[in-house]
Amino acid sequence: MERNRALEIVAKQLTDKRYKHTLGVTETAIHLAKIYNVDEKKAELAAIFHDYAKFRPLDEMKQIIIEQKFDSNLLEFNPELWHAPVGAYLVEHEAGISDSDILSAIRYHTSGREKMTSLEKVIYVADYIEPGRSFPGVDEARKLAEKDLNEALFFAVKNTILFLMNKNQSVFPDTFRLYNDLVKKER
Ligand SMILES: [Fe+2]
Ligand SMILES: [Fe+2]
Repeated sequence: MERNRALEIVAKQLTDKRYKHTLGVTETAIHLAKIYNVDEKKAELAAIFHDYAKFRPLDEMKQIIIEQKFDSNLLEFNPELWHAPVGAYLVEHEAGISDSDILSAIRYHTSGREKMTSLEKVIYVADYIEPGRSFPGVDEARKLAEKDLNEALFFAVKNTILFLMNKNQSVFPDTFRLYNDLVKKER
C-alpha cells in the first residue's frame, strides 16, 4: 500500500496528537530500518498502522480478543496492551494489510515478546524514541538506537518494566520474556 493511502486510513482512526506521534514513529522506523537492514517499506507501513486500534472502545477490543482466541491473559492485564493485537487484527480485516511481518510488528509493539524479529524491534524502539517522546532516559535510548538495536530494545523494555513496577502495575508475561531473552544474551 502506498504511504499516503495508509496515512489517510489511519488519520480517520486517530486524534491529531496520536497522528503526529504516528508520523514520528514512521520517520524513526524508516531511519532505523536503513541502519539495521530491515525492509523499509514494511517498517513504514507497520509504523503507520501500529496504533490503528488505539481509540477503539474497550468492549469492542475485549470482544475481538475473546472471539479471535487471542491470549486470554490479555484480559487480566492492563487494557493499554489490547490495542496492539486487536490493531493487527483490524489492520488486516479493515485496511487489507496481509503481510504477516507487518502484522506481527503491530501485534507485539506494546508487550514485546521473546525472539522478536528485526522489524518488530524496529517498531518497538521507534515507538519508544520518536521525536515527540519526552521522558527521563529518552536521549540515552535515542543514542543507543543509533548504535545497537538490541541495546536500545533492552534499555526500553527494562525501563518500561521498572516504570510499571514503580507504579505497582502488573507486567505482561511476554514483556518479562523479552527482558529475559535479552538479559542473558551478550549485548
Ligand atoms: Fe501503541
Ligand atoms: Fe505508538
